Amino acid sequence: MVTEHTAAFTRMRAIVQTKYGDSGALHLDRVAVPEIADGQVLVRTHAAGLDRGTWHMMTGKPYLMRIAGMGFKGPKDRVPGRDLAGIVESVGSAVTRFAVGDEVYGIGRGAFAELAVASEAKLAHKPASLSFEQAAVVPISAGTALQALTDQGRLGAGQSVLVIGASGGVGGYVVQLAKRRSTASRRSTCSSTTSVATGTPVRSPPTGSSAPSPSTTSPRSC
Ligand SMILES: NC(=O)c1ccc[n+]([C@@H]2O[C@H](COP(=O)([O-])OP(=O)(O)OC[C@H]3O[C@@H](n4cnc5c(N)ncnc54)[C@H](OP(=O)(O)O)[C@@H]3O)[C@@H](O)[C@H]2O)c1
Repeated sequence: MVTEHTAAFTRMRAIVQTKYGDSGALHLDRVAVPEIADGQVLVRTHAAGLDRGTWHMMTGKPYLMRIAGMGFKGPKDRVPGRDLAGIVESVGSAVTRFAVGDEVYGIGRGAFAELAVASEAKLAHKPASLSFEQAAVVPISAGTALQALTDQGRLGAGQSVLVIGASGGVGGYVVQLAKRRSTASRRSTCSSTTSVATGTPVRSPPTGSSAPSPSTTSPRSC
């Protein structure tokens, strides 16, 4: 995508939302390129993730979020999208970890646009092993999963984990991280339509295991 430069100002293509609603509330438009503060980075987005929080902001639900500052009648942030991956376009004067041309991913503002703003602290260099599309679905959901397991859960070896919503954005990472870190000897998972499995991770049951079958359905009954 090419950003349109004019003598008077610089504009870019973006998905814009002026009212709450379903995906019909979104439309493609041209808006001004956002300005960055000293500690911020302007990222040319190659991919954007769609996390549950962005869905909340599109619909304006739960309503409490509107009172909490999201915008009462319509979203304050007209360009949605938080998760992003892309290439650094420019950096603020106080930014030290990134330079123009770096491949980055993280959490920003207005990711559903050609250019988006992110604080330096909310970005990381993109591993070469990840595509932009893969990297863009990591930051919010995987970060939340990591916080749940480590900062909040403080899991230790041998502890069990019950993952409610294991088929979701956050839960999928929780299952993988718990397995990867070997912090839990048992992982129980649950979602509204999929299985409840105890004694083994639901996504990688051992062959010949005597653990309960992941195909045991338990709709909405964790
Ligand atoms: N505070 C934060 O920073 C933060 C960040 C990220 C997420 N969150 C919150 O964390 C929650 C999960 O986020 P997410 O991205 O993982 O959402 P998601 O992708 O929509 O996943 C929701 C999960 O919950 C399951 N589920 C829904 N209703 C259920 C029920 N009645 N009983 C059992 N399971 C049920 C779904 O199962 P099915 O797929 O089978 O329906 C799915 O696995 C959301 O409320 C989100 O707002 C908070």
